[in-house]
Amino acid sequence: MKLTVIGTGYVGLVSGVCFALSGHHVICVDKDEEKIKKLKQMESPIYEPGIEELIELNLREERLSFSADLQDSVRHSDIIILAVGTPSLPNGEADLTYIEGAAAEIAKAMEGHKIIMTKSTVPVGTNEKISKILAKFTHHSFDIVSAPEFLREGSAIRDTLHPDRIVIGLDNPELEPTMRELHKGFTENVFVTDIRSAEMIKYASNAFLATKISFINEIANICEKVGADVTEVAQGMGMDQRIGSSFLQAGIGYGGSCFPKDTNALIQIAGNVDYEFKLLKSVVEVNKGQRFMIISKLHESLGSLRGSTIGIWGLAFKPNTDDVREAPAREIVEALVAEGATVKLYDPIAATNFRQQYDHPQLRWCNLPEEAAEGSDAVCLLTDWSLLKDIDLHQLAKSMRNGVLIDGRNVYSKEQIEGTGLVYHSVGRPQMGGLSGYSASVAGAV
Ligand code: UDX
Repeated sequence: MKLTVIGTGYVGLVSGVCFALSGHHVICVDKDEEKIKKLKQMESPIYEPGIEELIELNLREERLSFSADLQDSVRHSDIIILAVGTPSLPNGEADLTYIEGAAAEIAKAMEGHKIIMTKSTVPVGTNEKISKILAKFTHHSFDIVSAPEFLREGSAIRDTLHPDRIVIGLDNPELEPTMRELHKGFTENVFVTDIRSAEMIKYASNAFLATKISFINEIANICEKVGADVTEVAQGMGMDQRIGSSFLQAGIGYGGSCFPKDTNALIQIAGNVDYEFKLLKSVVEVNKGQRFMIISKLHESLGSLRGSTIGIWGLAFKPNTDDVREAPAREIVEALVAEGATVKLYDPIAATNFRQQYDHPQLRWCNLPEEAAEGSDAVCLLTDWSLLKDIDLHQLAKSMRNGVLIDGRNVYSKEQIEGTGLVYHSVGRPQMGGLSGYSASVAGAV
């Protein structure tokens, strides 16, 4: 099939590359000519393991091309995939400017029937709006399909090629065979529904996953006070298939380009129809507070942070990405600066992006995790990069001024910590190397 994908962000570029890999002819379009120029030279604008190799392969096999000319690309394609951004407006609502602009341009380019498939995350009812815009600017016939995307950064290619399910929302049943053909080879699990339900499935899925994270984070906070271990609790819960073991990793909360934006958008979608989504509001609230437990634990170990030096390991919102959007690290670092600490920052790939958003004379930029720890009073692990799991913790303790390690992602085991001399705090697990939480209150009572 001949496809045009509009937007070369995470969703657009990865979808385009994967559709090309499965044998379709794909044109990826972006109005940013610089991006297109780089893509033609096989340089990806996003960090995603494996993507440049697949771009190269598809270009070589002439199934993929890049263009800044939307109208020409639309004319040469049967299916147009909308994958432009839907950022948050100040009130949390999704900004549909790019969607609406692209729809108008598609319509103006049409010289015959087209299928327009929306992959961007859009509020319920948006595909109907797109339909109206198209009808306003063209007299040619078209069909609209909602095909929300569930890929995760860092494993985007695998998630796209082997998804748990593909959701297709349509109101013309005749389109179903074409949609199945388009996704052939990806998965047999194609769920076909109406357009509004498909739009809602995307928001409900992300909101539910965010709920799991905030839920386990609150359980973790209680575990600390009652002397239980949240990793054991999550494991025991997850063995119940009705609950499932994924997204029960306690930590400093979720970030990224989707969960914060989509949870707020769903609260707004509900609010627009006079429904207060109380549960989701709490999920967002819990997530906002969770990152600051890092600061509380620093106070617990060091008292005032004025004049202290704190090392930070990890700035990306999660490992295997250079994305720092809504990363908990930002507010944590800002709080440390406000409290008068010198902050030594390390991230294997996200430091440049972080620094473009936030810099301060109290920040020191480090090329190695050991450099961020050297002479520091405490190190805070904020992103669970796998390379951090193999750090020599004995050496680490020796190189620090005060050996406090705050592990915001529960990366290290008791065995790794024991005998290092580090004072170790994690999330929802008994403290090691000192007294706090439950153990401290028990000790105090004796
Ligand atoms: C998410 C959804 O998973 C994906 O389906 C959707 O299309 C886009 O949003 P992504 O933002 O790439 O994907 O990251 P994900 O791996 O889901 O993690 C999101 C955040 O939750 C990260 O900050 C991560 O650290 C945090 N998280 C995840 C936890 O704190 N605990 C967990 O158990 C899982």
